[in-house]
Amino acid sequence: MNSIKIPQTQFPVADLIKNRWSARSFSPKEISTEQLKTIVEAASWAPSANNAQPWEFIVAQKGTASFDKIHGCLMPGNQPWTKHAAAFVVSVAKKHFEKEGNPLNPFAEHDLGLANATLLLQATTMGISGHVMAGFHQDQLRQLFNLNDLVKPMVVIALGYPDAAEKLEEPFKERELMPRSRKPVDEIIIDFSNN
Ligand SMILES: Cc1cc2nc3c(=O)[nH]c(=O)nc-3n(C[C@H](O)[C@H](O)[C@H](O)COP(=O)(O)O)c2cc1C
Repeated sequence: MNSIKIPQTQFPVADLIKNRWSARSFSPKEISTEQLKTIVEAASWAPSANNAQPWEFIVAQKGTASFDKIHGCLMPGNQPWTKHAAAFVVSVAKKHFEKEGNPLNPFAEHDLGLANATLLLQATTMGISGHVMAGFHQDQLRQLFNLNDLVKPMVVIALGYPDAAEKLEEPFKERELMPRSRKPVDEIIIDFSNN
């Protein structure tokens, strides 16, 4: 456990939320099919507008052709450390409602974000770290997985059991050893009425 990543919060935030952080150093330990499906099911229990569940996931375990394809789509800054991830999940937003006329769902990306957050928290309870990345070539990934224009691959999530920061090369090692920070609560509350 990289305890430097567990923040001191201003208010009594739940341990599960404090314990989630975006690791880059992953151990060789595998994540099983059952565990990956558990993590994806957790994502599916997120709330969504009209319960439309506007999400789909590409799941790839290390050692598979899909894993290598996804890894090949990542930006250079994400490739060195993700090669040790145990799995990738690509979170895909379904842009249209499935109901009559297939109208645009303006909340699809928002709701996929909720699903991703739920996924990350489930993984955290299992001792698994998820690291969300937008740094990938979207068109390349679309092409490799035959994704049409009705969907949008939003992020790739690298999953794995966290390992020692010392195993990383720079600049990733330094980032792994950096404490996490957030804006103070009073800076993000823009209006608060309490009498
Ligand atoms: C939409 C999104 C895109 C991100 N893209 C990347 C990325 O391409 N590479 C990376 O190393 N981290 C990426 N991150 C991780 C953030 O840098 C990280 O969540 C943030 O610094 C806060 O750290 P924490 O998750 O440990 O609290 C991304 C996170 C999100 C939500």
